[in-house]
Order: sequence, then structure tokens, then C-alpha cells
Amino acid sequence: MWRNYLKQRQVQVEAAMETLVPARADEPLAEMMKAMRYSLFAGGKRLRPILLMAAADAVGKDGGSFLHAACALEMIHTYSLIHDDLPAMDDDDYRRGMLTNHKVFGEGMAILAGDGLLTLAFEVLLSQPDSPPATLNRVAREVAAAAGPAGMVGGQAIDLSSEGKFPSPQTMALMHSLKTGALFRASIRSGAILAEATEAELASLTEFAEKFGLAFQITDDILDVTGSDATLGKPVGSDERNQKATYVTVYSLPEAQKMAQQAVTEALASLEQFGEKAWVLRSLAEYLLTRDS
Ligand code: IPE
Ligand code: IPE
Ligand code: MG
Ligand code: MG
Ligand code: MG
Repeated sequence: MWRNYLKQRQVQVEAAMETLVPARADEPLAEMMKAMRYSLFAGGKRLRPILLMAAADAVGKDGGSFLHAACALEMIHTYSLIHDDLPAMDDDDYRRGMLTNHKVFGEGMAILAGDGLLTLAFEVLLSQPDSPPATLNRVAREVAAAAGPAGMVGGQAIDLSSEGKFPSPQTMALMHSLKTGALFRASIRSGAILAEATEAELASLTEFAEKFGLAFQITDDILDVTGSDATLGKPVGSDERNQKATYVTVYSLPEAQKMAQQAVTEALASLEQFGEKAWVLRSLAEYLLTRDS
């Protein structure tokens, strides 16, 4: 049942992005839009927009009414992937089962496609209909902080400067919580804020988001070792090639598996007060332990 929900939400997000990030036929901007759309529509699980909507559902609103904000999160995530794959960063050739953006459009255009998606995301987010300006202001600050130097960009910077080193478990955990956790946290909190969650609901959903992000990144690190290129859509062994500090290298594969399990258990515990309305969030957390892509 939740697989159907997921598919339905993915279709909804993609249809909205089709309108929000339209193709252009007019040169000279057509090529840049093509590069942005290439990565945006290359597939992807759409977890961040789905989490935003599911968090709104959990507090009793229709998550489907926050599609602008949801799409903005996916646009920021896609920009982060385009830049993450660049030769100056992880230097990967495949993403979402397709050649990486720079392999098709060149490095300069890939950088600009990322820049374009990041900035357009805020225009889209602030165009979210039917939300009071004060709420949108709060959400925009939340998302900007999560994407920026104190969030995802900061985490990527620690990731780069830790290559080939053996950071402490604390530094590695901080790096992961910023580079991946921050956007998940912002997605879930944004859904809750847009849906006018109470402070108590927001606190529980924030707790859920932190555990979810942790479990997600641990399983991303595990899949880089145990997964397959074909199902993942990105090359396995990328972390080893780049001498990355991951949950698998800093701990071990079995230890990392245990930690992921523990994080999911804690994520589920934080949802107690929401009852049935949090069924999608619960299913998403449980899915992390069995995902293969
Ligand atoms: C991969 O994210 C990058 C990380 C943050 C670790 P996803 O696994 O959500 O990638 P897509 O969106 O499904 O391609
Ligand atoms: C990147 O982490 C997280 C981002 C902010 C994009 P990874 O480098 O582990 O992501 P993958 O494995 O390439 O998707
Ligand atoms: Mg990386
Ligand atoms: Mg990478
Ligand atoms: Mg990875």
C-alpha cells in the first residue's frame, strides 16, 4: 500500500517540477535549462519532497498542498548531487543510472546547472501558494540554513578535507549529519511548519528526522560497499576510491548495520504521538533497512 503512495507522490512531484522548471526552446538559455532538467528528471527516489509531504500528513494536513516547497527541496538535493559528482569532488561518472551532468554538459555547465537549481529552488519555495508570508519566511530560513555552510555545504567541506584521513567518530558523525542529515531535517521540519504543527509535534518530528537522516546515511555508506551499480544507479566503491571516512570504514560493516537498525528503532519511537497519521513516515523509516537503491 505504501509503495503505491510512494509512486503516486513521485508522479505528483515530477509533474509539478515539469511546470516549475520548464524546458526552454530559446537559445542561448536552452542548453542550461536542458542541463538542469537532465539531472532533475533522471529519476531519483524523491525522498525529501515525500518526507516533507508525509510530515504535513502526520500533523493532519494534506501534504499534497505543499508541492512548491516539496519540489524546492528536490531541486536543492539535485544540485548537491551534480556538484558532488564533479571531478573536483567525488569524480563519479554515473548518477541515477545515467551519465553524470558534467559528463554530458561539461564541468562549467554542470556547475551552473547546480547554481541554477539552488537559486530557482528559493524562488519556487517562496511562491508556495496559500501559506502566510511569516510561515514561508520561517521555512525559507530553515531550508537556507540546512543547505548552507552550517548544513549541507559545511558537511561536504568536512567530507573533502577528511579524504585520506582518519577523522574521529565524532567528526565523521558531524560531517554526515550536516551533509545528508540537514536536508532531511529541513524537509521534515518544513512540512511540519507549513502544516502549522504545534511545538511539541515539531520537536518529535525533528527527533524523527535526525534519526532518519542518520539511518539513511549509514545505509548509503553500506550500499557503497554491498550494493550494485545497476540497482543503485551510481558506482559502488566510490567511497573507497576516494578514501572517504564512512560508517563502514570508521566502524565496520556489521557495526554499521547495527547502528542503522538502532537509528530506525529510535526514529519509530519518536512518532508515537502521531498514531495512524504517521504511517508513511513509519514505512519510510523501515524501508531504509531493506533498500537497495
Ligand atoms: C544520495 O541521495 C546522496 C546522499 C545524500 C547520500 P538519494 O539516495 O536520496 O539519491 P536519489 O535522489 O534517490 O538519487
Ligand atoms: C553526498 O554524499 C551527499 C550530498 C550532499 C550530495 P555521498 O558522496 O556519499 O553521496 P553519493 O553516494 O555520491 O550519492
Ligand atoms: Mg560525496
Ligand atoms: Mg558522492
Ligand atoms: Mg555515498
